[in-house]
Amino acid sequence: MPTLEQVAQLISTTGKVVALTGAGISEESAVPTFRGSGGIWESYPPTIYANPPGLVMTLLWRPRRMADFIAEVFGTILRAEPNPAHYALTAMEEMGFLNSIVTQNIDNLHQAAGSKEVIELHGNLLKLRCMRCGHRKLMDRRKLEHMVCSFKRHSLSRLQILRELSRFFPKCDCGGRCRLDVVLFGESLPQDQFSLACKEMEHCDVLLVIGTSGAVYPAASLPCYARAKGAKLVEINPQSSSLSPLSDYLLMGKAAFILPRMVTVLRQLQQPSPQRGPSA
Ligand code: OAD
Repeated sequence: MPTLEQVAQLISTTGKVVALTGAGISEESAVPTFRGSGGIWESYPPTIYANPPGLVMTLLWRPRRMADFIAEVFGTILRAEPNPAHYALTAMEEMGFLNSIVTQNIDNLHQAAGSKEVIELHGNLLKLRCMRCGHRKLMDRRKLEHMVCSFKRHSLSRLQILRELSRFFPKCDCGGRCRLDVVLFGESLPQDQFSLACKEMEHCDVLLVIGTSGAVYPAASLPCYARAKGAKLVEINPQSSSLSPLSDYLLMGKAAFILPRMVTVLRQLQQPSPQRGPSA
């Protein structure tokens, strides 16, 4: 069983370190994971709620259920705050031990924790993307909070829901239509972000794989690609995942427990070792 100290030593002596994160890193920010008991897909099956035709059918036939879904998903993400795992990755970036984060999460928590180099494979629930020019921009949080409150409080008709939602999709400066910047089932990943992620995999020496089940492709193929290009893989997860057999090091535990300790050890390794005096 590798120790955290061994992994910290590896990180501090290697060239480029990249993190690939999944829903598990946000578990302690009260954002539920997708799979497993208590996961989002338990209450809202992805065949309906992560699928464009399923969403349209729900809006048409079960508007109340649709309003509940929107209020729950946006409400959860608006309330969520970064946890010690997010802050630890930010500290590692600031200390020069982490080049970038490639995330599958759409919760904006890495950026909220202050991380600068964040590549978003599945988009960001708080952003809009122009369907013509691809420009992305953050939505107005206050307006979103207002929408969540009204969806929770009132029993809105299908038309009222549509009217409320349409306020969030203004036209882009280029004249194109905006949509939520999230990847639904059956859709391709944003090409710009996926290309950046592949470059990070090609050039990294260590890939930290944090809180992902490795069940969704193409994101789940990135560790395999990094390894083929020579990177060592370090997995941080309380359970083994489908990526565990690929891992060189498996640190079993919650990210919010392991990563802050990793930062402490890295800080110690950064300290210059005390000078030895002349021997007597
Ligand atoms: P999953 O819900 O599939 O997996 C979450 C992983 O996090 C599991 O392996 C858990 O064991 C682990 N985990 C749970 N708590 C943890 C903690 N405190 N610390 C560290 N790990 C923890 O989530 P993802 O792998 O991120 O895509 O799912 C990938 C994609 O599936 C999502 O981005 C989403 C979904 O469909 C889209 O919506 C396109």
